[in-house]
Amino acid sequence: MLKEIYRLGSLLGDFRSLARPENIDLHPTSMPQLVGEFLNTQAVEYTSRGIAVEQDFPADLPMVMADSRRMKQVLLNLCKNAVDAMAEGGTLTIRGRHLAGTVSLEITDTGVGIPDDFEVFQLFKTTKEHGTGLGLSIVRQIISAHQGTISYRSEPGNGTTFTISMPVDSTHSGQFDSSYRSNDSMTRKIS
Ligand SMILES: Nc1ncnc2c1ncn2[C@@H]1O[C@H](COP(=O)(O)OP(=O)(O)O)[C@@H](O)[C@H]1O
Ligand SMILES: [Mg+2]
Repeated sequence: MLKEIYRLGSLLGDFRSLARPENIDLHPTSMPQLVGEFLNTQAVEYTSRGIAVEQDFPADLPMVMADSRRMKQVLLNLCKNAVDAMAEGGTLTIRGRHLAGTVSLEITDTGVGIPDDFEVFQLFKTTKEHGTGLGLSIVRQIISAHQGTISYRSEPGNGTTFTISMPVDSTHSGQFDSSYRSNDSMTRKIS
């Protein structure tokens, strides 16, 4: 009975954030900083579950336009799934990359993996006794509100990587702002 109440509680919590139609609040955001803040709140729990946490970010990763509260929800849902997949412990790696106008974040686990024919993004799809099957639907909704994309690759028995990609913030990273770029190269030519 109590378990059912807990389950309903998390179901309602998840459902509320899925249904909430409010606009997202975008600001220039540093992904390494956001991930660092997120891990400050979770790393102790992950470590206590036998999971090593690793981060890998290039020093010059551009900013993205993001709603930091919602991106932390994305990280929480993806990392929670990663940790759930590593019941015997393992390694959780969060890696940032910069590729052609996008910043991507890879969340890699060394867990059980996802079978080929399993539709993870399907609403209410869960393999967990107390799962809601809403976590990845919420993630996908938030990422698409950021004009981003999400994909994953998995090797059953070896682990899974979820990759989210978001457009870089062109107004705050000079090299992607064309007016900035031409000014820059002008200055360089003259001097
Ligand atoms: N990193 C992962 N490794 C293995 N399975 C995963 C992973 N992420 C998601 N899944 C599978 O996808 C299902 C749906 O995930 P999600 O939408 O977050 O719902 P929930 O976590 O409540 O089950 C999970 O129950 C699990 O079977
Ligand atoms: Mg989940």
